[in-house]
Amino acid sequence: MKEKVIIVDFGSQYTQLIARRVREHYVYSEIQPCTDTIDIDETVKAIILSGSPMSVKNFDVEISPQSFLGKIPVLGICFGAQWLSEELGGRVEASSKREYGKARLHVEKEEDPIFNGFSDDNQIWMSHADTILDLPDEFEIIGRTDSIPVAAYRSREGAFEQSIYGLQFHPEVTHTIQGEAIIGNFLFHVAGCTGDWTTASFVDESISALKVKLDGDKVLMGLSGGVDSTVGATLLHRAIGDNLHSFFIDNGLLRKDEFEHVLAAYKRMGLNVTGIDAREEFLSELKGVSDPEEKRKIIGRVFIEVFQREAAKIPDVKWLGQGTIYPDVIESVSVKGPSATIKSHHNVGGLPESLHLQLVEPLRNLFKDEVRLVGKEIGVPEEILSRHPFPGPGLSIRLLGPINKDRLRILKEADAIYIDGLKDHDLYDKVWQAGAILLPVQSVGVMGDERTYEWTIALRAVNSRDGMTAEWSKLPYDFLAEISTKIINEVKGVNRVVYDISTKPPSTIEWE
Ligand code: XMP
Repeated sequence: MKEKVIIVDFGSQYTQLIARRVREHYVYSEIQPCTDTIDIDETVKAIILSGSPMSVKNFDVEISPQSFLGKIPVLGICFGAQWLSEELGGRVEASSKREYGKARLHVEKEEDPIFNGFSDDNQIWMSHADTILDLPDEFEIIGRTDSIPVAAYRSREGAFEQSIYGLQFHPEVTHTIQGEAIIGNFLFHVAGCTGDWTTASFVDESISALKVKLDGDKVLMGLSGGVDSTVGATLLHRAIGDNLHSFFIDNGLLRKDEFEHVLAAYKRMGLNVTGIDAREEFLSELKGVSDPEEKRKIIGRVFIEVFQREAAKIPDVKWLGQGTIYPDVIESVSVKGPSATIKSHHNVGGLPESLHLQLVEPLRNLFKDEVRLVGKEIGVPEEILSRHPFPGPGLSIRLLGPINKDRLRILKEADAIYIDGLKDHDLYDKVWQAGAILLPVQSVGVMGDERTYEWTIALRAVNSRDGMTAEWSKLPYDFLAEISTKIINEVKGVNRVVYDISTKPPSTIEWE
């Protein structure tokens, strides 16, 4: 990667979307918080300023636009555009001209490179309370809407060495019909990017860099069976071969037969992996525990104990491999405005500093869909790449009430019927995540001539992009009927099945 674009995050809910849109043009982008100074080296081709939940009137931004204006092409989006304008002496006000939702852009300067291939009177997406009423002298209007005078501006010819653009609307959201063209025009026609960032180039460069960084060193890594740790380990394995020592721990909370299947897949892939049966250790510590946070804590602690014990068997290890991905990295640094993230989970398996290992995180700069593309490129099997997300604490947080072996058996069997059914009916890939939940509720039923008083299984299936929001999946009634009958007939201890029709927010995907 020889070029990159810096996205300065003022806390907008769309900041990650801007970064993804830039990368969709094969230009590498990095998000940095607006509290950091901007370091413009020769790889940085442009700066994009994000929107914000704050108003320019009461957001005391620490960086100064003078530190980068004129040195490099800049695109301000929404708040970013308002902030530049205000800082250079324009007028931004909370006015009656606020807009939310669709609007139409009237292009004033058709010949401007940013509008290359953009047709006039196109739909754009607005979301702002403040409005730019007057521009500073150095800027000129290049687009307006029916309700606001400054929907798009640019720096006047010769006012700065490098062009500055401001857009009041959001080109990064799909409701701006030609937003992609605008971002592409900025990258290629204004900033002169070439688009050198592809999956193949990422793989080549990462492997070369890992070879240099880890030269002859041993790396330890815990695998979960999920996409991130598997792709991360495969990349490391490509770079350092069997110097990567990985563990796959059976905590007894994985899906039915999952440990055996995944371990076999890892072995087929040639990974140097040790399967560890720690079921008894986890389950004896969890026995009778009902509180979800308590469950998470116990699982986290036992995981560390098992990992440390196994790690001690491999001498002279210097590094710990982790499947951290970009959203985890930016979540931990992003500006905490009102749009601050709701998710508070940490992957189970956060390992302590007492291991005295340096971290190597080969996927640290990738979004989830990019991780999948990299996985495909380096031959990770589809069965792993297309797996639903599965939480670190596993079935323990889908088993409401006290954990014991019999209740775990009920949940595993019901879950397996459900997931196998989704696969058999070609529904598995149409939902983002699915699973069965064992409720701590017994109810009355009849089986044959007998009255029963048994447990309830809830089925959950959601569609989502990233797990932050989710819709319940509209699975066909016939399918639900078939699964319900099968679970009640085949899983001893269950006499009722219900389907969860809650959306996140206000519900969550997991029940605990
Ligand atoms: P919620 O339930 O918060 O879940 O809507 C969002 C996503 O996070 C997963 N999840 C977890 N993952 N450790 C994890 O590694 C956890 O403790 C945890 N809790 C929830 C959940 O499965 C969904 O994909």
